[in-house]
Amino acid sequence: MIALGADHGGFALKEEIKQHLDDIGVPYKDFGTHSPESIDYAKIAYKTCRSVVDGECEKAILCCGTGIGISMAANKVRGIRAACCSDYFSAKFTRLHNDANALCLGGRVLGVGLALELVDVFLTTEFEGGRHQRRVDQITAIENGTFEG
Ligand code: RB5
Repeated sequence: MIALGADHGGFALKEEIKQHLDDIGVPYKDFGTHSPESIDYAKIAYKTCRSVVDGECEKAILCCGTGIGISMAANKVRGIRAACCSDYFSAKFTRLHNDANALCLGGRVLGVGLALELVDVFLTTEFEGGRHQRRVDQITAIENGTFEG
């Protein structure tokens, strides 16, 4: 199950992503927003990301105007590794190397075609592990206040 969330700046893109996930048969849960009316992205990031860290959903896809504000908020949720991506290589390698569990996209930055390519590669690429696991563990240690440098 994929968790979807967007503020008003990402609402239209989220709707495109929903249509795409329907087309390819990927189940999702939509945490809003459900209209183009203004809403704060932190609120959406929090509830969407909670569903990932609580185990209800595997990964999150979050959209705001730039993808940046919602990624900043998402990365404050313990256990979330959110990547704001605008190119294919980054969306692929944030799975391979960072085990990112949230993809953040800018609805005012990306065309729909590219955004859907980023969604597809993010959802289908597995984490490589190995030396990258150590680095992800270090991120977790920073988050937990146990990192010793
Ligand atoms: C909303 O106007 C906009 O600031 C928001 O969608 C996002 O781009 C913030 O980073």
